[in-house]
Amino acid sequence: MNATLELLNSHRSVRTYTPDPIPEEHILRAVEAGQAASTSSAVQAYCVIRVRDEGERRSLAELAGPQEKVAVAPEFFVICGDTRRHRLMTRRAGLEYSGNLEAFLLAVIDASLFAQNLCVAFESMGYGICYIGGLRNDLARVDEVLEIPEGVYPLYGLCVGVPAEEPSHRPRLPASSVLFDDRYPDDQAMLEEIDRYDEGYSAYRVARGASPGTWSGIMGSKFASPQRGDLGPYYRGKGADLS
Ligand SMILES: Cc1cc2nc3c(=O)[nH]c(=O)nc-3n(C[C@H](O)[C@H](O)[C@H](O)COP(=O)(O)O)c2cc1C
Repeated sequence: MNATLELLNSHRSVRTYTPDPIPEEHILRAVEAGQAASTSSAVQAYCVIRVRDEGERRSLAELAGPQEKVAVAPEFFVICGDTRRHRLMTRRAGLEYSGNLEAFLLAVIDASLFAQNLCVAFESMGYGICYIGGLRNDLARVDEVLEIPEGVYPLYGLCVGVPAEEPSHRPRLPASSVLFDDRYPDDQAMLEEIDRYDEGYSAYRVARGASPGTWSGIMGSKFASPQRGDLGPYYRGKGADLS
């Protein structure tokens, strides 16, 4: 193990924080580390909105669940795919912007690479982070709160602060369940891997006081019905062409 591997493997989502503020310099350093991530053909199709207004934080906390940590975390960011800069440059060049699904995916992929680098940078400085997908519960209201312009796609939030808890490690699938030599495995082999993982996952849930469900049971129910069905219309409304 080197220091980077140790840091990456020590990740846990942290959901409670001390009130200590994060120095501006640390925020800037983390954002620059985020920007250092690979970006498809250097398109840099992302931005991050740092939400500082208490009332806006409170509104976002409500619509994200509610999730109190969104209101009280020392810092809260909204990670966005950003095609607006490309639209501006295209128009200024006298051309018509014509982004399709590829342009949307570029923005989502780029933003997520940026975000994960940002998180690791914060963690390397001793902070705890928690992504907030709950923002997608109601992106229309996120828009109302933050007045996000056309071409900018809010994807998820991010709480950051000095940890006030030490969460246990949430077990992942073994590497053999995600790393395949040459070909995807057959379904039976995959299901057997999942059964083995289920045993450890249930034990983890019981140890942290949750109901004793299996990973496959939880995922099976989660994906048996569509979630957040309004995202297509929402992102189309923000100017995304998903075709
Ligand atoms: C895109 C994304 C959205 C998430 N949204 C939430 C959220 O809204 N609230 C929350 O408490 N955790 C959220 N999480 C944290 C996950 O629940 C967590 O990463 C996962 O359970 C694994 O646990 P670990 O990060 O502690 O290893 C989110 C994670 C990701 C990557």
